[in-house]
Amino acid sequence: MKIFKFFAIVIATSAVAAQPVFVSKREVTVGETKELPSSTDNDLHSSYGKPYAIFQPKVFIVSMFELERDPWLEALDFVHNISLPGLSPIYSTIYCTTNYSICQATAGEGEINAASSLTALTLSPLFDLTKTYWLLAGISGGEPTQVTTGSATFAKYAIQVGLQYQIDYREYINTNPDWISGYIPYGTDNPYTYPGNVYGTEVFELNEKLRNRALELASNVQLDNGTEKNAEFRALYEVEPAISPPTVVGCDVLTSDNYFTGNVLNDYFANLTKLMTNGSATYCSTAQEDNASLEVFTRMQKYGLVDYERIVVLRTISNFSRPPPSMANNTVKFFTDTDKGGIGHSLANLVNAGFPFIHDVLTNWENVYESGETYEADNYVGDIFGSVGGKPDFGKDSFEIA
Ligand SMILES: *[C@@H]1O[C@H](CO)[C@@H](O)[C@H](O)[C@H]1NC(C)=O
Ligand SMILES: *[C@@H]1O[C@H](CO)[C@@H](O)[C@H](O)[C@H]1NC(C)=O
Ligand SMILES: *[C@@H]1O[C@H](CO)[C@@H](O)[C@H](O)[C@H]1NC(C)=O
Ligand SMILES: *[C@@H]1O[C@H](CO)[C@@H](O)[C@H](O)[C@H]1NC(C)=O
Ligand SMILES: *[C@@H]1O[C@H](CO)[C@@H](O)[C@H](O)[C@H]1NC(C)=O
Ligand SMILES: *[C@@H]1O[C@H](CO)[C@@H](O)[C@H](O)[C@H]1NC(C)=O
Ligand SMILES: *[C@@H]1O[C@H](CO)[C@@H](O)[C@H](O)[C@H]1NC(C)=O
Ligand SMILES: *[C@@H]1O[C@H](CO)[C@@H](O)[C@H](O)[C@H]1NC(C)=O
Repeated sequence: MKIFKFFAIVIATSAVAAQPVFVSKREVTVGETKELPSSTDNDLHSSYGKPYAIFQPKVFIVSMFELERDPWLEALDFVHNISLPGLSPIYSTIYCTTNYSICQATAGEGEINAASSLTALTLSPLFDLTKTYWLLAGISGGEPTQVTTGSATFAKYAIQVGLQYQIDYREYINTNPDWISGYIPYGTDNPYTYPGNVYGTEVFELNEKLRNRALELASNVQLDNGTEKNAEFRALYEVEPAISPPTVVGCDVLTSDNYFTGNVLNDYFANLTKLMTNGSATYCSTAQEDNASLEVFTRMQKYGLVDYERIVVLRTISNFSRPPPSMANNTVKFFTDTDKGGIGHSLANLVNAGFPFIHDVLTNWENVYESGETYEADNYVGDIFGSVGGKPDFGKDSFEIA
């Protein structure tokens, strides 16, 4: 546990806290009006539109619920509480450190909460987020062939897998006994085919160079291995890395409001991940928000309000998403009634694995991170529509939007 190191940093910031230093607060740019290009439409870029923004955080941590938020509140010295309209009714406050260089928001769980809270935050006239680095940091279910409990995963792809038709098992088993699940991609008539039409939020690709930097930094810390009971539970699996202590891994995250578990849906969604990303993504963690959050960033990037290349998605593993072989005939018991040793290590590892990146951004702000050049993406970033520019390297060449 490296929390001791964090306390050392907290003490250092507290020393700064003694004086009223608000260096990261931006000057209000009243009077500095920019000449807008003349145009025949009303497509004004709102990057011109935050002249009164006063906060310019260098790093924004986004948690989804209380348990994910609390380790950050303990590890860092948050002293400012800021309320904004549009945040979750149960998490209506943003926390910032003394000089506003690090802020934290809690979005609420699930796709609707993530999308609405982040829309409110990114549109807030108080925050200039054009240079901000984002750490979306939450816990998730883990695929035992890729990760184990306590693992810290950094994603390149986020895949939304719940956007599908669905038929209950009992109604297709007689007519279509070979189907591997009751999910059917939109615009098709079977569970195996690439969707005939898309909504545009199915796949998001992130800045791989920045992802790799965050991963490299996290690899240098000792992760929390969890309890004896966690270790015993891991030992029930028969594959690596499930049976070993947790490590830091680069692999991809699924988003689904539907909290699935078990072998059948894991196999199905692992295949769907390959299908949706042209074989590029590897499913290892599953949660309920990331695609929704990334959809917001895509929209805001289009108007210059955020930098989509500055997003890091960290998911630590709290739970296996499928039972060990010895419980394969009772997934319900595995899910609802089995002592797996607790989620403490996954919560601790949000800070253990996420803080090194935050520290790097703050200490190397002037020479590296402010301009963003060093970690400028060299892979495609964005959604299937090419909303933030470039040509997607996944999906079909032409598709129907529906
Ligand atoms: C704000 O505080 C952080 C430590 O929390 C420090 O690294 C940074 O240099 C400070 N920023 C300014 C502009 O003083
Ligand atoms: C900010 O919020 C925290 C956590 O809810 C609370 O403990 C603290 O008293 C608040 N601080 C201020 C200045 O309101
Ligand atoms: C969610 O995001 C991931 C990675 O960015 C992407 O691969 C996936 O298609 C997205 N899924 C949805 C439904 O948006
Ligand atoms: C975690 O496991 C590793 C590998 O077995 C070991 O080196 C390390 O000491 C363990 N750490 C803790 C905190 O248990
Ligand atoms: C996943 O794909 C593999 C290889 O194409 C196939 O053998 C398997 O039946 C598929 N499983 C599911 C659940 O889709
Ligand atoms: C399920 O598996 C366990 C352990 O392998 C075995 O004891 C039990 O009889 C099995 N139950 C059923 C219903 O097959
Ligand atoms: C696994 O997930 C279930 C359902 O959310 C939860 O009740 C349980 O505490 C989790 N177990 C662990 C070890 O994280
Ligand atoms: C998908 O992968 C194939 C094989 O690697 C490649 O030829 C094709 O161009 C890729 N599709 C896209 C949209 O990049």
